[in-house]
Amino acid sequence: MQTFHRIIFRDSRQLGLLDDESIDLVVTSPPYPMIEMWDDLFTALNPDIGQYLERGDYRKAFESMHRILDEVWAELYRVMKAGALACINIGDATRSVGDRFQLFANHSRIQGKCMEMGFDVLPSILWRKPTNAPNKFMGSGMLPAGAYVTLEHEYILILRKGGKKIFRSPGEKRRRRESAYFWEERNSWFSDIWDFKGTGQEMNERDPRQRSAAYPFLLPFRLINMYSLIGDTVLDPFLGTATTILAAMACGRNSVGCEIDPAFAGHIKRRIEQEAAGLSRYNLQRIKEHLEFVREHTRTKSALKYVNIHFGFPVKTGQEKELKLPIVKSVEEVEENLFKATYLDYGSIKELDINGIGTGIQLCLPGSS
Ligand SMILES: C[S@@+](CC[C@H](N)C(=O)[O-])C[C@H]1O[C@@H](n2cnc3c(N)ncnc32)[C@H](O)[C@@H]1O
Repeated sequence: MQTFHRIIFRDSRQLGLLDDESIDLVVTSPPYPMIEMWDDLFTALNPDIGQYLERGDYRKAFESMHRILDEVWAELYRVMKAGALACINIGDATRSVGDRFQLFANHSRIQGKCMEMGFDVLPSILWRKPTNAPNKFMGSGMLPAGAYVTLEHEYILILRKGGKKIFRSPGEKRRRRESAYFWEERNSWFSDIWDFKGTGQEMNERDPRQRSAAYPFLLPFRLINMYSLIGDTVLDPFLGTATTILAAMACGRNSVGCEIDPAFAGHIKRRIEQEAAGLSRYNLQRIKEHLEFVREHTRTKSALKYVNIHFGFPVKTGQEKELKLPIVKSVEEVEENLFKATYLDYGSIKELDINGIGTGIQLCLPGSS
């Protein structure tokens, strides 16, 4: 099995090189309107924004920044297949205009506009990112009534183009069964509150920005497993440091990433080179956690009824019987900005030597600990 990953340096308001209805899933995080780190980028795309900010006309600045993003959402609608989902990670912004402290609700502005464009809005995920920052409590301290609650969460908006995706051919139905996730993963992934830390934002002096604005690998990794099939194509129109592409590689999906700033090219290549060898560990870790779940279930409740046909280990439901987890073997750049990932052949999966259920889990997998 192989997957392909293309990086394109261009403005995602024009995704002309992607065909209509060619994308199975979008996972992304745009620049957040009204967060200062993105003022210059938005101003470069529409110089009026700089003037609005300068004269404190924050409502116009907010709206103009969103109009830029709206053009990208419209392009996504065009390139997504019917039934495909878009997962958009976005945080709200707070900012003081003179002595008036305000929230700029990016998540509801995007949801409203996407609904107008024809997307169906599905229940979203609230990503809680607790912080220990000493300045997280804002406002008048212990004196009422000018203190503000902390802003320690972001959203993952989930939008669908049209109705539920229909899997018609026997091949598609099989691929869907092979792309299943574990029962216990369903129980935590499909909860509306996710609680995990953000990722380090430091970049070094060779890099184009001081802070990466990257999301943690776990975020696209989960979403890709939840909402696409092995072999599908995932798009990230705001690629940044290429976290989505790495997650797609680890999940056995193809991907396309667009980034407006070509200065990211070197950083992205270095990151893929450095992290490719470790990508197998994410699915190996899922196997390991599943085996722990099996052991605990067997010890405290009962033996599981079903057996996975590829791995030979027990699973909770019949839907997990054909589940496969792609294990990355290697990644190479096959042409400028096009990467190919190759996976372990399932015929040789016995090499993984997963044994010991009920007798203590012993996992002898390459690179696992
Ligand atoms: C919040 S960051 C994404 C970070 C990414 N999720 C990661 O993990 O590294 C947003 C990225 O979108 C890029 N960007 C902003 N406007 C864009 C546009 N119109 N087209 C393409 N990329 C854009 C920015 O340069 C920035 O790298």
